[in-house]
Amino acid sequence: MSYHNPFTPPRKSATFDDHTLAEIRRAAATGIYDIRGGGTKRKVPHFDDLLFLGASISRYPLEGYREKCDTSVVLGTRFAKKPIELKIPITIAGMSFGALSGNAKEALGRGATLAGTSTTTGDGGMTDEERGHSEKLVYQYLPSRYGMNPKDLRRADAIEVVVGQGAKPGGGGMLLGQKISDRVAQMRNLPMGIDQRSACRHPDWTGPDDLEIKILELREITDWEKPIYVKVGGARPYYDTALAVKAGADVVVLDGMQGGTAATQDVFIEHVGMPTLACIRPAVQALQDLGMHRKVQLVISGGIRSGADVAKALALGADAVAIGTAALVAIGDNDPKWEEEYQKLGTTAGAYDDWHEGKDPAGITTQDPELAARLDPVAAGRRLANYLKVMTLEAQTIARACGKNKLHNLEPEDLCALTMEAAAMAQVPLAGTSWYPGKGGF
Ligand SMILES: Cc1cc2nc3c(=O)[nH]c(=O)nc-3n(C[C@H](O)[C@H](O)[C@H](O)COP(=O)(O)O)c2cc1C
Repeated sequence: MSYHNPFTPPRKSATFDDHTLAEIRRAAATGIYDIRGGGTKRKVPHFDDLLFLGASISRYPLEGYREKCDTSVVLGTRFAKKPIELKIPITIAGMSFGALSGNAKEALGRGATLAGTSTTTGDGGMTDEERGHSEKLVYQYLPSRYGMNPKDLRRADAIEVVVGQGAKPGGGGMLLGQKISDRVAQMRNLPMGIDQRSACRHPDWTGPDDLEIKILELREITDWEKPIYVKVGGARPYYDTALAVKAGADVVVLDGMQGGTAATQDVFIEHVGMPTLACIRPAVQALQDLGMHRKVQLVISGGIRSGADVAKALALGADAVAIGTAALVAIGDNDPKWEEEYQKLGTTAGAYDDWHEGKDPAGITTQDPELAARLDPVAAGRRLANYLKVMTLEAQTIARACGKNKLHNLEPEDLCALTMEAAAMAQVPLAGTSWYPGKGGF
């Protein structure tokens, strides 16, 4: 006898939801794990869970049209003879040539330069397009050593030693065969068309003591001119920041779990690392404990989208932010105008699933010359510059409303949290209270 409940419709499980069921079926059918680009897609505590308080009787706001609000920042003031002077505290994060087309790298360089900020190479070396169009270029020194050469260390304006990324702390790079064109293969000294997995560990250092020696070597090669950044994925931000400072970093780049990637396992993106929001205060605490806050600069990345996010990161103690995903969207990635072509790839505009496949209809995450030619680097660079300008104006609007004549004068005291989680992670009071969970520790 079958039992049918006529009163309530069938209910699906929250644990085994449709996506989970489909993923189990996909894994069962193929026997391979899911690889994708982008950052965390599920909701984790983020900057949206914080609000600015703004001025009131006890705080005096600044007038937008008449009173200045300084946005400049200098990165690398600790040891480097030539620190990086930026007009805005928003930098372009490292994204590899290989993951991105030459035109996309050129567009990022053009946009960053117009806006008065820096851009960064990536796993795979420095291209002439980006060096030529980036007034300030940070050169990544990665475990893979793809495209690494001393000449390019000297051509750069700063060096970023990559220990890890927020999307995959503890994991290495991945570039699938579809994107290994002749040029990409040549730059990486590897065969064409074969999937590449970059190392997750640096071959020439295993811990902070060796890292110190490596940083000294990099300083010697570049005549102590270039700032040395150390980039870590958000995992143990207090200790990682302290160790990077001990090893001699001028700048610590801290990338939270919402940070984008060109390709990695979905399970990595969704289940490893800490939310960006949870990384900032421990890192700032480490800098303060060492007497290094504002002397070693802190750059935060992972899910930064707007001037509000920038202002919140700065209020929590960062000196600057870096953007990856948002910069790609600004230059034209995942534009709904390509929806028909995204559908043919089995995805949709806004899903960011196709970055590893190399067939990006927008011409950005591809090495296909015909697709890449669709991106006009001049127009795309202008779009990026516009977007950076808007973000800066937004951050200034907020800072002025909080009575600050410099973005860097924003402070935790200007914030409240909407949720208990955000209050605990950002160590700012829950809205309407003077309390946050875990006061006194993290
Ligand atoms: C397409 C793409 C390629 C990337 N390539 C690199 C890389 O080569 N090296 C690296 O350190 N990080 C890489 N990243 C991570 C970014 O540097 C940065 O940490 C991240 O994108 C920041 O998060 P957001 O995308 O939410 O802004 C890449 C990210 C994207 C989206």
